[in-house]
Amino acid sequence: MCGIVGYIGKKEVKDILVDGLRELEYRGYDSAGIAVLQDDEIKSYKAVGKLKNLEDKTKDFASDGLAMGIGHTRWATHGKPTELNAHPHLGEFSYVVHNGIIENYQELKSSLQKDGVKFLSQTDTEVIVHLFEKNYKELNDPMSAFEKTIDTLHGAYAVLLITKVDPEKIYFAKHGSPMIVGNDDKGDIHFGSSDAALIGKATEVIYLDDGDYGYTSQEGISIFFDKEKKALNKRALTGDKISAQKGGFRFFMEKEIYEQGEVLSDTIIGRVLDEKINFEELHESFFDGIDEIKICACGTSYNSGLACAYLFERQAKIKTVVEIASEFRYKEPLMTKNTLFVVISQSGETADTLEALKMAKRAGLKTLAICNVDNSSIVRLADHTILARAGIEKGVASTKAFATQVMAMWMLSIYVAQIKNTMSKDEIKSELNAMRHIPNAVIVSDKLHEKIKRLSKRYLHGHGFFFIGRDMFFPLALEGALKLKEISYLHAEGYPAGEMKHGPIALADSELFTIALMPKTLHYDKVKSNVEELSARDSTILAISPLEFELADDFIKTTHCEHPMSEFFEMMVITQLLALEVSVRLGNDVDMPRNLAKSVTVE
Ligand code: M6R
Repeated sequence: MCGIVGYIGKKEVKDILVDGLRELEYRGYDSAGIAVLQDDEIKSYKAVGKLKNLEDKTKDFASDGLAMGIGHTRWATHGKPTELNAHPHLGEFSYVVHNGIIENYQELKSSLQKDGVKFLSQTDTEVIVHLFEKNYKELNDPMSAFEKTIDTLHGAYAVLLITKVDPEKIYFAKHGSPMIVGNDDKGDIHFGSSDAALIGKATEVIYLDDGDYGYTSQEGISIFFDKEKKALNKRALTGDKISAQKGGFRFFMEKEIYEQGEVLSDTIIGRVLDEKINFEELHESFFDGIDEIKICACGTSYNSGLACAYLFERQAKIKTVVEIASEFRYKEPLMTKNTLFVVISQSGETADTLEALKMAKRAGLKTLAICNVDNSSIVRLADHTILARAGIEKGVASTKAFATQVMAMWMLSIYVAQIKNTMSKDEIKSELNAMRHIPNAVIVSDKLHEKIKRLSKRYLHGHGFFFIGRDMFFPLALEGALKLKEISYLHAEGYPAGEMKHGPIALADSELFTIALMPKTLHYDKVKSNVEELSARDSTILAISPLEFELADDFIKTTHCEHPMSEFFEMMVITQLLALEVSVRLGNDVDMPRNLAKSVTVE
């Protein structure tokens, strides 16, 4: 996804900007650009592809003395990855970079076009710079023009703007997309959309809040909220890359659990529109002749596939089969051309999944990858890819990748439902609304985390765990058990709640821990009676539900129960935190559990 950097100071501006952008590369991008303002002149450079291309273009440029600049890596959402669409975007005398999405850009663009403004790009961002210049011409004051501009924008944004009419300042605004401003001990100013870009450069930083805007100059930083000047809440920024990359969390896994709201917003941006799902990377005709989906994956990615198979059948009314890639490879599978072959992989390098994909290609099937790593082997091989947009996942135990895979496939199921006309407009709208709500459902509150920390001490021994659920909550139970196993080394199984009585219930006693996923919106009464059966046999029950359950030994109350998927995502976070806290108490290496590798490139 996109990245932003900015700088005011006497060091070579281009180097600072490009170096900052390099630290944001991990988020993925398809073009990059910078604009540097010095001596009332703005120089701008853009290039499609890797930063190396931008460096080649700027090799003869160097700033000299005090200057300022803004830079951006773009992940195409509105318009193709071309140089014209790359940021910074130019007006007559100003440049802007932007992360996020301007929801009302069409309406703003049409009105500016009526005033005779010519647009060069297909992006939503370009409206910002033209709007600013229009307001400046009316108000003759850059700050008032900037304030008026951001007041007009709807959606999510982090914006930096430089302008010749106020050549000593960088204007900034944040609403819904991250932005950090900081300074070093010489007073040079640095901006970044993540602290990764600022480590080793800024020594003190301010994490801007939604609604903050203002400007910076050599004189310092001025932040406003609701037209009132705010006190600066500066924090020291560590120079240690690893601990800074952990952003104050104890483990990468913990950080990745916490950042799920942000990455899920990235996953839906530009794809969840007002009335439909849009995938720039797909064309509806790709689904011509397809009446079956086969999903193939390993581990966590398999669990996400299994969960979403329920959605494909329920919403898109398309037969969907999910297979473990290492099994699929050797079963001499039947592959028919009416089948869309979908592989899911965080890394895009998993040997079994890759081999299954090759088999499907050889059999002439249409193939689609849901993957987190662009340009990985799987992405290069599949006909089309939907990138999960989770950003780099460092914890071996996958968390945010799972979340974004589920989100990507939920969107895909609605996309297929649109094509096949299996849902009404109102039904689709209500799914889109539910999707927009998910980033809130995965927010970790201090209260919840504390509760799970406390509870975890009761779940360190015993002879095993059963995570149980029904419907989509069965694959979530599988995933909860996998997480716990991977990092606690305790035995855990995921099971369909209704299947316990067919054997596993024989294990029930007080030393058997049942983690019961009891959503309100999906088969609550059925799961409840399965949990009652276990409770009657003295199993220790940790119930996760929005509804009080008196037989539970421990209870975690969930709050997002307006849609099965918000329940799914909220419970997902709880199972991840439980695994994390049990592992911490057992003294294990959470990020690098024994015997496991992040990317399994052997069979
Ligand atoms: O990179 P992939 O998604 O293809 O990896 C598949 C599995 O190896 C992976 O999900 C593994 O199960 C993780 N350790 C889960 O936390």
